[in-house]
Amino acid sequence: MALLPATLLAAGAPQAATVDRMVLASGGAVLELSAPASGIMRIRMGRGKLPEDASWAVPAAARAARLPLQVTRSGETLQLRSAGISARIDRRTLRTEVLDGSGNVLLSDLAGSAALAAGGGFRLRGKLAGADHIFGLGDKTGTFDRKGGAYTMWNSDAYKFTQATDPLYKSIPFFMAVGDRGRAYGLFLDNTWRSTFDFGKTERDVLSISAEGGPVDYYVMSGPAPKDVLQQYARLTGTAPLPPQWALGFQQSKWSYKSDAEVRAIAQRLRGERLPADVVYMDIDYQDRSRPFTVNRKAFPDLRQLASDLRAQGLRLVLITDPHIANAPGQGYAAYDSGAVQDLFLKLPGGEYYSGDVWPGASVFPDFSRAKARSWWGELYAGLVADGVAGFWNDMNEPSIFNVASKTMPLDVVHRIESDDFAPRTTSHAELHNVYGQLNSRATYEGLSRLQPDVRPFVLTRATYAGGQRYAATWTGDNASSWQHLKIGTQQLLNLGLSGFSLAGNDVGGYAGEHPSPDLLTRWFQVGAFMPLFRAHAETNRPDQEPWVGDAAHVDIRRRFIEERYRLMPYLYGAAEENSRTGVPMLRPVFLNFPQVLAKGDRLGGSEDQFMLGGDLLVAPSPTPESPGEYTVELPGKGWYNYWTGQRLAGKGETIKPDIAQLPVYVRPGAIIPKQPLVQSTAFAPKGPLELHIYPGPDCQGEIYADDGASLAYQRGAYLRQRIRCEETEAGLRVEFEQRQGDWKPWWNGVKLHAYGWSVQAVPDMAAGSILIPRPTHSSGNGE
Ligand code: GLC
Repeated sequence: MALLPATLLAAGAPQAATVDRMVLASGGAVLELSAPASGIMRIRMGRGKLPEDASWAVPAAARAARLPLQVTRSGETLQLRSAGISARIDRRTLRTEVLDGSGNVLLSDLAGSAALAAGGGFRLRGKLAGADHIFGLGDKTGTFDRKGGAYTMWNSDAYKFTQATDPLYKSIPFFMAVGDRGRAYGLFLDNTWRSTFDFGKTERDVLSISAEGGPVDYYVMSGPAPKDVLQQYARLTGTAPLPPQWALGFQQSKWSYKSDAEVRAIAQRLRGERLPADVVYMDIDYQDRSRPFTVNRKAFPDLRQLASDLRAQGLRLVLITDPHIANAPGQGYAAYDSGAVQDLFLKLPGGEYYSGDVWPGASVFPDFSRAKARSWWGELYAGLVADGVAGFWNDMNEPSIFNVASKTMPLDVVHRIESDDFAPRTTSHAELHNVYGQLNSRATYEGLSRLQPDVRPFVLTRATYAGGQRYAATWTGDNASSWQHLKIGTQQLLNLGLSGFSLAGNDVGGYAGEHPSPDLLTRWFQVGAFMPLFRAHAETNRPDQEPWVGDAAHVDIRRRFIEERYRLMPYLYGAAEENSRTGVPMLRPVFLNFPQVLAKGDRLGGSEDQFMLGGDLLVAPSPTPESPGEYTVELPGKGWYNYWTGQRLAGKGETIKPDIAQLPVYVRPGAIIPKQPLVQSTAFAPKGPLELHIYPGPDCQGEIYADDGASLAYQRGAYLRQRIRCEETEAGLRVEFEQRQGDWKPWWNGVKLHAYGWSVQAVPDMAAGSILIPRPTHSSGNGE
């Protein structure tokens, strides 16, 4: 029976009414549709009653909003129209079709009441358009375009995973379908149970989504452009906070730098070799017997002094803190004792602690589904924060357990949900497994925010769930040092960016397997320099693979690329800021900026091999890095610039003869890219002018964003945002500075305009107004 205004129910002929949600019941199932925001339809269904309206991914405020639904009825079909999206429901079967604002069908034939399995769980079916490409689902390997594949959501420690390994560390049950004309929609299933997504693998062009339990609760987002889908998804699950600027610097890690002397030696070497860097990581060996929140005082007698000496060199410490707490009662281990006193560790159904083996040996696990456990966890950081540790690394939080076939805890471990707008209840690990890592990183993030309210936290997590971007950056786990990983790593990061996680990286050089060859390591540094999170890391007991390893020629190349990243810092930081506002990732497949490339068909118009950083830089590594033959780079249009030389390309692309010293990078015609003088760390203010590199072309514009890079003062007006435009006129190149926003006083003394094909010009500042660069007598092709 439809729960509709009586007038509408009574009517035989089509009539209209406006409701804020529609609830229909049929065949033992209850279905609800609502529109939480423009272009978004939420669909929930349950047996006998609707599932609980609560979520780890979508905050209550985003779920509570409801736009009006215009209801019309025609026979057994109900049509619901909202801003930018509509749905058609068959009242008998509850089968649903979702349409965009103009009435084009996005998803048809979505299974109604028949989707619900008798014993719990469900299987939704829908039709995929033949031409659609599928992206998202987090950092899964497989193929870049997920069409034709099937994937499982079950957070798993996947040491040395391959292209065929599934599931991996994270569960982000969100995907985007993009047609050849760039028309896109998205679907997010907000369900933390083990689930699978089949994109036409079992049945051609059939989308099948199933879960072993939990609610049918999903959102369809109508785009229409791929970027719109990302913004709609961000509206639901949030965006990443603006990171501290140092998180965009080069980060050096290894399992492990084992002593105070070794950490100092790494810092010394980075500075001695003039390799710019911002972070040194300390992995599990800094701890006493691998126990989280302890420090081995023999190896690290004075952590505070170490942190402060490193800080003077422009380096910050990030420390690992895994979620497993050594099961060590009566030993004076504060993390155990304080958690036990408050009864915060997970238990088996019989009431005894669940204990599993991880790095410290037998360990217990906090129940992060309780707000109380999360605040306790947050306080554990007080000592390390007071010592001057700048950021924290939450690893092994799938959670990973050794010596058991499942690699995780038993599914009947009992969680006690006491959090957010969930009704307090106990449930099994089967429900909380996929969100355990996200809640772990949330506890860390919120704890750090409480400890230092005006400092932007930096948290790196391995496992997570949708919405986890609000709390932590991420990396792709234990990859291998192989050419194949270099390549699939980029695709993983692109799909992570399309899944809400912008600040992401993979272990530069590769974590496991054979030691990387000098060429592989160099190539990885080159590509890594253009990735959002640039962290070199490798496993224990293998030869060194820091950037200085190998002959001088290789080290010079790596240094050049790390330096270039530091020169690009204002641009990178601007991209991070854009992401924090809009959800559009820093790293982007070409089609995200230029949806029309998909129509070219060939390797998704370059999107499979190339990548973009922000809106303007396109990086084109070899599609076959392991066998470096010539390859052709095709760009999204004419007139792009070579980033390194400033020369404008005559056509739409060029043929590249690979050279280990070079990585082809191009600039969008019309870009204005801010750069800065070289520094060895973001902790040091650059000396000299801000550089604005102007690449004349259509839609010529750029933006500069700056603030103190570390505090929340930007939220109180201490930032600078200014848009700059350029236009070629008869008289010359007109560069226009719009009005500045914010009252932050930046580091630069003056501005240097490098207009490619024109000339270099210095201006004292960027006061609102315009400047004319005169037409050169003959074109040099290069602004230098
Ligand atoms: C896990 C992490 C790896 C880390 C190691 C030791 O394998 O993925 O990055 O080095 O644990 O903590």
